[in-house]
Amino acid sequence: MSVSTGSYSPSRISDVYGLMVLDSRGTPTIKAYVETVSGVRGWGIAPSGASKGEHEAVEVRDGGKKWLGKGVERALSNLEDIAAHMIGLDARDQAYIDHLLISLDGTPNKSRLGGNTTTALSIAVARAASYSLGLEPYEYLGGNRANLIPTPLMNIINGGVHAGNDLDIQEFMIIPVEADSIKEALRKAVEVYWTLKKLLVEKYGKNSINVGDEGGFAPPLTSTREALDLLVEAISRAGYDPGTDFYLGLDAAASQFKDSDKYRIDGKVLDADQLVEFYLGLLDEYPVKYLEDPFAEDDWHHFVELTKRVSTKTLVTGDDLYVTNTKFLEKGIKLAATNAVLVKINQVGTLTETLEFVDMATRNCLRAIISHRSGDTEDPFIADLAVALGTGLIKTGAPARGERTAKYNRLLEIEFILAGQARYAGRTPFPR
Ligand code: PGA
Ligand code: ZN
Repeated sequence: MSVSTGSYSPSRISDVYGLMVLDSRGTPTIKAYVETVSGVRGWGIAPSGASKGEHEAVEVRDGGKKWLGKGVERALSNLEDIAAHMIGLDARDQAYIDHLLISLDGTPNKSRLGGNTTTALSIAVARAASYSLGLEPYEYLGGNRANLIPTPLMNIINGGVHAGNDLDIQEFMIIPVEADSIKEALRKAVEVYWTLKKLLVEKYGKNSINVGDEGGFAPPLTSTREALDLLVEAISRAGYDPGTDFYLGLDAAASQFKDSDKYRIDGKVLDADQLVEFYLGLLDEYPVKYLEDPFAEDDWHHFVELTKRVSTKTLVTGDDLYVTNTKFLEKGIKLAATNAVLVKINQVGTLTETLEFVDMATRNCLRAIISHRSGDTEDPFIADLAVALGTGLIKTGAPARGERTAKYNRLLEIEFILAGQARYAGRTPFPR
């Protein structure tokens, strides 16, 4: 790896600093700025998860009474220490800078500097480089052929740890596959979202339309089938065909409802073999084409079993299973544990490691879905990343709440900039 040389580079870093901002749950997080000698200012904000994988990069937080322990003063002081090492480097040397962060941290999980600190800095470096070159981040990272607008997996019923209801499955998603553009896909999806709202009021009263952390409704339901039935009804009532215009998706986040060696779901206690059959039943009855974290993150064997049985029909995705880390993905590839991976920059803590993870996944024919976190912010960087990498799929919540619409609005903007060059991924990322 080499540092760019030459007399004047517009992307040479002149200043690095950060401040505390709030995420969508009111939790403090880090916003980093990277300025270059050409006078541009890159920035990045770290998001934060609730249903975290055990092996994720660690967020450094203050503890103590203030902010109920969630303050980020320590992380900000780490950022100041790192800044001294970054000034004078070239922001285009993303890999060099990210490896510098990794070595300054010196732990396997960013627990010294904080994955929150390194994530914000790493994104800010990429933006600083792209702005210095007069490029949009998606163009800088993806080259001038990047034109695939991802199909969104839109979580419009929230459960699990993202909602105050009794749904065990965390996310119930609609996937607008029949559209020519993200603009058309969002129109159809919003029509379904509004129709679902009406339907909920009719069936369960107005207390059922409060929303969860990712902007989906959080109605007082208790079973997976009730929620899937509502999605199917909302799609039909909005004038669309479930299975043709829209696929459905689930993120079970099953680590959250595993209890010793059993799974507690829909009022029943199932062993993992029974849970396999439970999912197979759902795939028979509903057009579910996406199934994320169907088992707890240590239950590799059942991932393998389910993927073997459904991989020609459905994407089986590892989120907590892999935590955007090539070390775990290597194991998944060897075992054929899934046919898709979720990608979250802050699970691993730098953009370079994230790019390596996506590269390993796609080289091994696994779909990669670029994802937000349940605690997110107005930073739309993942929209640029999804277009840059051309993976064709993004997961960024309901078409509601500013931190979610920030990503959709950025996709609309990218589609607008690309004009006739943009292509909407539609159903192409899914097995037929
Ligand atoms: P998290 O959940 O951001 O709360 O971890 C999102 C997901 O599980 O995909
Ligand atoms: Zn997940």
